Amino acid sequence: MDVPSCVGCVKMARVKELIKLENVWKIYKLGETHVEALRGISLKIKQGEFVSIIGPSGSGKSTCMHIMGCLDTPTKGKVWLDNKEVSRLSENEMARIRGRRIGFVFQFFNLIPTLNALENVMLPMLFQGKNERERMKRAKELLERVGLGHRLYHRPNQLSGGEQQRVAIARALANDPDIILADEPTGNLDTRSGEEILKLFKEIHKDGKTVVVVTHDINIAKNAKRIIKIRDGKIVGGG
Ligand SMILES: Nc1ncnc2c1ncn2[C@@H]1O[C@H](COP(=O)(O)OP(=O)(O)OP(=O)(O)O)[C@@H](O)[C@H]1O
Ligand SMILES: [Mg+2]
Repeated sequence: MDVPSCVGCVKMARVKELIKLENVWKIYKLGETHVEALRGISLKIKQGEFVSIIGPSGSGKSTCMHIMGCLDTPTKGKVWLDNKEVSRLSENEMARIRGRRIGFVFQFFNLIPTLNALENVMLPMLFQGKNERERMKRAKELLERVGLGHRLYHRPNQLSGGEQQRVAIARALANDPDIILADEPTGNLDTRSGEEILKLFKEIHKDGKTVVVVTHDINIAKNAKRIIKIRDGKIVGGG
């Protein structure tokens, strides 16, 4: 009987294209100098995928991630998020999409130094209008989930690098985004802490999130199900 495979086909067809870039260029202008950071990037990432973007330093990985995450707009070309074009939105509209749909993780953690772990994770929820009790409950749950239930009241400078990155991951998950974008998330960590962070990303992916990890390290990239290779602002593999 071929019913199950048909069900499978229908399911496959239903997998949404979540992120789409079409012929995206980013040209930075510095006085007389023009830097072509992205030179005609086209790619598609489906909902629930775990993708890594790999390439040498200066190849355009962070620029690409910023454009995918509505942190920046392309000079030319189009970007869609969930079939909505986002390449020409206002700063406010982009901020709204980022706040609800995207969680970011960066190499240097970017935690707020004066806030403790719990407050750092609670912060993004404030902008989504959740009351304090809800914010605190969810922040505690998320910190417990990343193994930091015993470090709720530590400020970033009272935590190890790996712990700070786990706080940053909990913060990225705060508003239950469907996309997690991480830029060199293990770049500042020793091998063991890096492996723990990667394990967390795998779990997050298993929970159904779309995960994109930018790295220059092939051993990190190998953890993803698909590797997109960028060189000199162009895709040279996996796109
Ligand atoms: N704001 C900016 N203004 C001018 N040039 C920039 C700017 N941001 C990046 N660039 C340039 O664009 C190119 C791509 O930079 P990008 O940060 O995307 O590279 P990357 O692949 O993330 O590198 P790395 O692995 O070192 O982080 C580089 O040549 C960089 O110097
Ligand atoms: Mg970079």
